[in-house]
Amino acid sequence: MIVKILALTLSIICNSKIYEGAFKNIVCVCNSTSCDEVEPLGKITTGKAVVYRSTLDGDRLKRMNIGMETKPNDKENVSTTISIDAGRRFQKIFGFGGAFTDSAGEQLAAVSETLQDQILNAYFGENGLEYNVGRVPMASCDFSTHEYSYDDTDEDFDLKNFRLAAEDLKLKIPFIQKAVEKTKEKLLLFASPWSAPGWMKVTGRMRGGGALRNDKRVYEAYANYFIKFFEAYQQLSISFWGLTIQNEPSTGADMTWRWQTMNYTAETMRDFLKDYLGPRLKQNKVTESLKVMVLDDGRGLLPGWADTIFNDTEATKYADGIAVHWYGNLYSPAVLLDITQKRHPDKFIFGTEACTGYFGHHGPIMGDWFRAESYADDIITDLNHYVTGWTDWNLCLDETGGPNWAYNVVDSPIIVNRTAQEFYKQPMFYAMGHFSKFLPRGSFRVFTKVEGDLSVSATSVVADGGRRATVILSKSPNSLIVRVLDISTGQSFVLSLAPRSIHTIIWNKKKYSE
Ligand SMILES: *[C@@H]1O[C@H](CO)[C@@H](O)[C@H](O)[C@H]1NC(C)=O
Ligand SMILES: *[C@@H]1O[C@H](CO)[C@@H](O)[C@H](O)[C@H]1NC(C)=O
Ligand SMILES: *[C@@H]1O[C@H](CO)[C@@H](O)[C@H](O)[C@H]1NC(C)=O
Ligand SMILES: *[C@@H]1O[C@H](CO)[C@@H](O)[C@H](O)[C@H]1NC(C)=O
Ligand SMILES: *[C@@H]1O[C@H](CO)[C@@H](O)[C@H](O)[C@H]1NC(C)=O
Repeated sequence: MIVKILALTLSIICNSKIYEGAFKNIVCVCNSTSCDEVEPLGKITTGKAVVYRSTLDGDRLKRMNIGMETKPNDKENVSTTISIDAGRRFQKIFGFGGAFTDSAGEQLAAVSETLQDQILNAYFGENGLEYNVGRVPMASCDFSTHEYSYDDTDEDFDLKNFRLAAEDLKLKIPFIQKAVEKTKEKLLLFASPWSAPGWMKVTGRMRGGGALRNDKRVYEAYANYFIKFFEAYQQLSISFWGLTIQNEPSTGADMTWRWQTMNYTAETMRDFLKDYLGPRLKQNKVTESLKVMVLDDGRGLLPGWADTIFNDTEATKYADGIAVHWYGNLYSPAVLLDITQKRHPDKFIFGTEACTGYFGHHGPIMGDWFRAESYADDIITDLNHYVTGWTDWNLCLDETGGPNWAYNVVDSPIIVNRTAQEFYKQPMFYAMGHFSKFLPRGSFRVFTKVEGDLSVSATSVVADGGRRATVILSKSPNSLIVRVLDISTGQSFVLSLAPRSIHTIIWNKKKYSE
């Protein structure tokens, strides 16, 4: 077989550390003097495509060139064909990113300034993953060390005692500011509350379910609480792009929920938005153009929530999109996203939270490839069903997957080891990069069809100037020969997918013969 892959040597390669496991559990170690970077895309020569590859076996965003076929070569033993039709455009991509939680901030604050810089460069820098989205919890969530809101004074309807917490000033804002500076494009920030201050709720506390007290003074105060949050951040020169009204409102129906949450039904969220939050946001210069996202919960609640909120002619004026979390995706087919998009084509769908290690084995599994695979799998599915971007959960966590005051530890693409003053890039980190780095904001998802081996899935975008990018996930334990066919230009190339691998292929529109 003639599969030409010309590997270039990376200038700064993965300093690997292998952990015990049934498979090769590899992380890349970074310390204050050494950290792997992604080799720049560089110029794409006519007749060639650039491939970045990560594998179970240990490649991490390894850059290669492949040649296009001058004419389809029938001698290749191609098992799978991936056809891309750049002429069939769907949703526009917003971007990819992670969350500035208190727990992530604790890790950043606990390491030297150089190491801190390495972590932020790894995510936001030009030679890193080029994240362009960030989520900011409003006040505390489970990834905090304690419960707090911005106004814990009972019955303070005028919010006279509203103030940002020490966590905002020490663990979020300094790192958000640095991330903004490092992001070449604009970093789109959105905020999400886990609960209103306890005194505004029927239960008197942030943890556990329960709704806002049915009291006009409470609804008004809570709408103003949002405004004050955005104003306070604006005073420190941090502008937001959007917000979700409530993180995982469905969990708020469980009165014994172990951490901060608040109950909304689709109807109560609609009414709070229509009667209080929406109008207040529109009346204020700082908040008038914020994108408001409803739901912020599993797609299993679609299209019902979207219908209830958007079919209301008043409420829909204040809502721009639908935020989805991946938990429960196994039980809720992606077609729910298609149905929702069809019914409400003027609203966007955006992925606002996902992580591994939240069930089964809680917390990190060092070097686990299968968690990287689940990221890639979900992002590909989401993009193929109208989702415009994907936000990971905690940017980084400690070795236990915390801190988390409710002991709800999970995994993260970056695990920080304070004792050793080093951090580990999990395979999930690279899985994120296969998308965040090569599917630029403003590009369009285009039609992609995979025929052949069922363990292969793929998604593609077309960016400005016609540049194409296709991400291919192979869960096959074998090497597979695939042909990628660019229908609108007739270009094609053949490549060998390593067992259990993620590839991003980037090429230009121009035909070989032109
Ligand atoms: C960082 O890691 C590199 C590669 O393992 C090693 O050579 C170097 O000594 C380490 N630096 C520090 C400060 O530990
Ligand atoms: C082609 O690939 C299939 C499996 O993908 C394999 O069974 C077959 O032996 C291969 N044929 C050649 C000529 O390599
Ligand atoms: C959640 O809120 C709705 C509407 O206020 C209410 O009908 C429902 O009983 C609440 N559930 C719980 C468990 O509080
Ligand atoms: C909401 O509107 C959509 C699109 O117009 C329609 O398909 C759906 O049946 C409506 N749902 C309800 C509950 O009114
Ligand atoms: C963190 O560093 C310590 C000290 O070097 C080491 O014993 C420990 O195994 C490291 N943790 C991980 C997850 O590698």
